[in-house]
Amino acid sequence: MKYEKLIELAIYARDNSTYTPYSHFNVGCAVEMKDGEVYTGGNIEIASYSPTNCAERTAIFKAVSDGKREIKKIAIVGDSDYTFPCGVCRQVIREFSKKPEIIIANSKEDYKIYGMEEILPHSFGPEDLVGDKNGRK
Ligand code: THU
Repeated sequence: MKYEKLIELAIYARDNSTYTPYSHFNVGCAVEMKDGEVYTGGNIEIASYSPTNCAERTAIFKAVSDGKREIKKIAIVGDSDYTFPCGVCRQVIREFSKKPEIIIANSKEDYKIYGMEEILPHSFGPEDLVGDKNGRK
């Protein structure tokens, strides 16, 4: 899917899919998986705060629970100027990506694209645990 279309879906999610009674800070995400399927999500806040789920994880977990495992592109749109994913979401993107295009957008005309290594350098991931590297399976 074109960057502009994915951003449009993320903007729609920011404006329609969030539950943010505490911060009133809205974030939307649209994630395109390897097979071309797209999932969207908004941030969901909880009164005791820590169970809050970011927009990125809402969208990614919808995809994963639908059997999808590899992110191709992910577009993120927040209420601030270039809203970047939090550290937890970076690790979640890392889990379900090989070479993702991470699109941080203000609008369809104003966006930047990052690679995984740029936003989470020297990361720990699934291949550090599985395989025969340390004799584990
Ligand atoms: N938030 C996201 O959903 N994604 C981000 O990339 C940054 C932060 C949410 C979490 C919380 O609901 C609100 O923004 C304020 O931190």
